[in-house]
Amino acid sequence: MKIAFIGDIVGKPARLMLKKHLKRLQEEHFIDFTIGNYENASHGFGLTEKNCNELLGYGVDMMTGGNHSFDKKEILTMFERYPLIRPLNYPKKTAGNGIFKTEILGEKVAILNLMGHYTMPMVDNPFTMIVEVVEGLKEEGFKHIILDIHAEASSEKNTILQLLKQDISAILGTHTHIGTDDLQINQGCCYVTDVGLTGCRDGVIGMDSDIPMKRVLTSLGGHFDIDEKCQTILQMIIFELNEEGRCIEAEKIKIYGDSPKIVTEAFREII
Ligand SMILES: [Fe+2]
Repeated sequence: MKIAFIGDIVGKPARLMLKKHLKRLQEEHFIDFTIGNYENASHGFGLTEKNCNELLGYGVDMMTGGNHSFDKKEILTMFERYPLIRPLNYPKKTAGNGIFKTEILGEKVAILNLMGHYTMPMVDNPFTMIVEVVEGLKEEGFKHIILDIHAEASSEKNTILQLLKQDISAILGTHTHIGTDDLQINQGCCYVTDVGLTGCRDGVIGMDSDIPMKRVLTSLGGHFDIDEKCQTILQMIIFELNEEGRCIEAEKIKIYGDSPKIVTEAFREII
């Protein structure tokens, strides 16, 4: 099966990029299922029901979240009606679920969302929790397990790779918005520290640069905003899993505005 994973979808420029390119890319690459991260999809903060329907209409099949999952309060009632998850290490009483179970081409597939520790809200220990959850899923017969690790620190994401590479199919990093150059197939696990954002490429992590510049030059705060007339980028990982849930092919797709796509193959790590 071939899965597409879009990193942080940041605001309207990102939604328009997906409207323009996603269905064509799905056809060109024979994609069976598409995952995207919604937490910045509505003007950079959370997800509205309107934007959720919009993204599902553009070809996204399910969406993962992060520390901004709850920025729009309407999400509290959306988890039951839409294919949305939030990090599984939020406390038990928090609305929503961190695991999405589905079937793709007759195979049981589990998609997980986990939040890191460094600079993140106080949540349960992501490392002990993910090891336990993956063990449970394997006992349930899941061979195809995909994780969105939403974290600031690349060291935490690397640690998750070393903890889980033999047990799960793919580990895709999100949250920093900056794509990293380490896409690899590591012992059958597709891994990248950060997929990188889809949205504006010429501001600061997808946001208008005025406020971040004011913050560093004056120490005064301000609310991040999105410049809807920005230069755009679409970033997506495509990976293929065999019947055993091991990754056999992976590549990164980048599209700058309307330019032709750039395709970069994953490095194959065999040690
Ligand atoms: Fe985030």
